[in-house]
Amino acid sequence: MKKPILRTPLPGPKARALVGLDKKYVSPSYTRVYPLVVEKAKGLWVEDVDENVFLDFTSGIAVCATGHCHPQVVRAIKGQAGKLLHMSGTDFYYRPQILLAERLAAIAPGRKGKKVYFGNSGAEAVEAAFKLARWHTKRELNIAFFGAFHGRTMGALSLTASKTIQKKHYNPFVPGITHIPYAYCYRCAYNLTYPDCHLYCARWVEETLFRTILPPEEVAAIFVEPIQGEGGYIVPPPEFHQVLNAIAKKYGILYVADEVQSGMGRTGKMYAMEHFGVVPDMMALAKGIASGMPLGALVADHDIMDWEAGSHASTFGGNPLSCQAAMATIELLENTLMQNAQRQGERLMDGLGALQDEHECIGDVRGKGLMVAAELVEDRETRAPARKLRGKIIERAFQKGLLLLGCGENTIRFCPALTVSGAQIDLCLSIFEDAVKEAVG
Ligand SMILES: Cc1ncc(COP(=O)(O)O)c(C=O)c1O
Repeated sequence: MKKPILRTPLPGPKARALVGLDKKYVSPSYTRVYPLVVEKAKGLWVEDVDENVFLDFTSGIAVCATGHCHPQVVRAIKGQAGKLLHMSGTDFYYRPQILLAERLAAIAPGRKGKKVYFGNSGAEAVEAAFKLARWHTKRELNIAFFGAFHGRTMGALSLTASKTIQKKHYNPFVPGITHIPYAYCYRCAYNLTYPDCHLYCARWVEETLFRTILPPEEVAAIFVEPIQGEGGYIVPPPEFHQVLNAIAKKYGILYVADEVQSGMGRTGKMYAMEHFGVVPDMMALAKGIASGMPLGALVADHDIMDWEAGSHASTFGGNPLSCQAAMATIELLENTLMQNAQRQGERLMDGLGALQDEHECIGDVRGKGLMVAAELVEDRETRAPARKLRGKIIERAFQKGLLLLGCGENTIRFCPALTVSGAQIDLCLSIFEDAVKEAVG
């Protein structure tokens, strides 16, 4: 496939009918931004029910790391499906769950031995981290960040601080969580400039928070995304995590990395925290881990994962099919895909950088590997967020056969499968530029 194929006006007749049915029967809480009704997909190409073919730079929200339906992943799932679909790793043992835990422990950063808890989603991985932090430290307070997205179950949602619509009418949340500004240097909460700020936002935790409202000896954990995802693909300065982790260590506070979106090779390293030289005490994983099969995992130092039998579990967590898909995924990531993510990510960043030079509305281009974003502004000087324009560009790109998603309020994310080729990056850039030109008018 060389370019998108559009056989009908969008949405086509079958898509239109299914969207109508969806409206009648499916929860209205979902956040669809354009009417894509998928029939099948392969690699980076997604075909809808009307046989229109799209170039996918969303990979199902950063999930299909190895591309849609990678043959090795499909083979692993099929092989397992004929043997065992479910037995519940909570009450019984089976080989794929044990072997995947061994694999995840082996590829985790740091020298300490690791243990792995399995759930079904990112929220469940975070939820497990939240509970384990309390269990292990016997402390009740936690720190998280504005802009953070950790999931939508009540514990994870209590840590989330991305958009008010995600929290509206759900109060009260789990108590004891303090949200603080992330190192969003393009829009510094303190109006400072890196590096002259000397990482004030991180130091402020010790210098202000721990001296005013949060006794550090009562804080269980700092929950942090190495690179903020839903909040806007925000890459903090290189020392941000080091400074925070050092503060955490000083007070016996756990440093919990939410790698749900940034992990599994997406940034060109297995885990995004590796770019920052910090070994977290726990990592929450999901999304890309099993190339589209539902799986969440919490990887923690063995001496931290010290909870007792019965203290936490999940019927479906660590499903055998998902575990096989994850092992096939990890093999592919290690063989070539992580390197490809780094190489193609540079091509994408360079291309977007060139578009930024041409188009005033692109205020910032940032990212690591294939976790890349363009932030849209009304004006380069004021940096006023261009929220409507962001929506228009995504809609125009869809009409041209390119699938994109937003993040933050006014940012577009580019998170293709790690199998993406240079030609596909160039195609994405050219369609994106046309969409920008049309949207700006
Ligand atoms: C960083 C991060 N953590 C947690 C989650 C929640 O994952 P899930 O939707 O699988 O529950 C997400 C989902 O976008 C995420 O990006």
